[in-house]
Amino acid sequence: MPSIRLLPVQDRARLTKAEPVVKWAGGKTRLLPELTARLPEDLGRYYEPFLGGAAMFLSLQPAGAVLTDINEELVHLYRTIQSDVEALIDDLDRHRYEAGYYYAMRAQNPRRLAPIARASRTLYLNKTCFNGLYRVNRRGEFNVPMGRYKNPTIGDPERLRALSEVLQGCEVVATDYATATATAQRGDFVYFDPPYFPLTRTSSFTSYTKEAFAADDQRRLAETFDDLTARGVRCMQSNSDTPFIRELYRHHRVEAINAPRAIARDPERRKSVSELIIMNY
Ligand SMILES: C[S@@+](CC[C@H](N)C(=O)[O-])C[C@H]1O[C@@H](n2cnc3c(N)ncnc32)[C@H](O)[C@@H]1O
Repeated sequence: MPSIRLLPVQDRARLTKAEPVVKWAGGKTRLLPELTARLPEDLGRYYEPFLGGAAMFLSLQPAGAVLTDINEELVHLYRTIQSDVEALIDDLDRHRYEAGYYYAMRAQNPRRLAPIARASRTLYLNKTCFNGLYRVNRRGEFNVPMGRYKNPTIGDPERLRALSEVLQGCEVVATDYATATATAQRGDFVYFDPPYFPLTRTSSFTSYTKEAFAADDQRRLAETFDDLTARGVRCMQSNSDTPFIRELYRHHRVEAINAPRAIARDPERRKSVSELIIMNY
């Protein structure tokens, strides 16, 4: 695979104007300047295995990217946007923002729905639920209550079409990060944005899926990071600034930056916090 050079910053205006279509905990939009300033010059193939809202991918738009996340509903939504965006846009019209409708949608089993209805439900719940959270119970059922909004937009057709265009030629798959990066080769680039290790015992928000991302998962991720390093794959990771994470990556380049926090409702808890950018190059 020939390596793909990123457009120089001054030429990035030529990229398709594409922004995240979902609200996602840990969205990286506000950290992009810090992250992109630290990218290697040549990216090779681009991998983003904790895709979430895809802010980093959208800001770079590298061709042929491998985009993965373990959340099957999120990935199904992206695959639908990639292959059938007009049918999805048409389907969004049927949704209503009212409690009875919300809880009926929430109660549906997405695996039993037709492909368009399944993607449309994910987008609807994401835009109408409390704080745009994605949280499931132990049985894997989405359990976030309805949020309070004035007139929520479920999907902006232009935004969805722009994302569809950018996703053409990318691989979009629901899988674990270790499987996703197994094919990465020397010179390729992986951006890891895992669920962060909690700063305190109670501050964690890691239930994106029914399996929470605990200390052992962070250790397993560090092993993958080291393995990719040994294979000549360049990796960048975002994580929380905690002694545990610093210890796991002590052999790598680790830089602390100040990050604004977004997900807390209480403004006091939204103050900026130190985060780490970990690099193996
Ligand atoms: C911090 S979020 C990513 C935020 C994203 N970078 C953005 O800008 O919106 C972490 C993501 O990791 C996913 N995830 C959790 N465990 C995973 C695993 N084992 N493999 C792959 N993805 C996983 C979650 O579904 C979630 O979407």
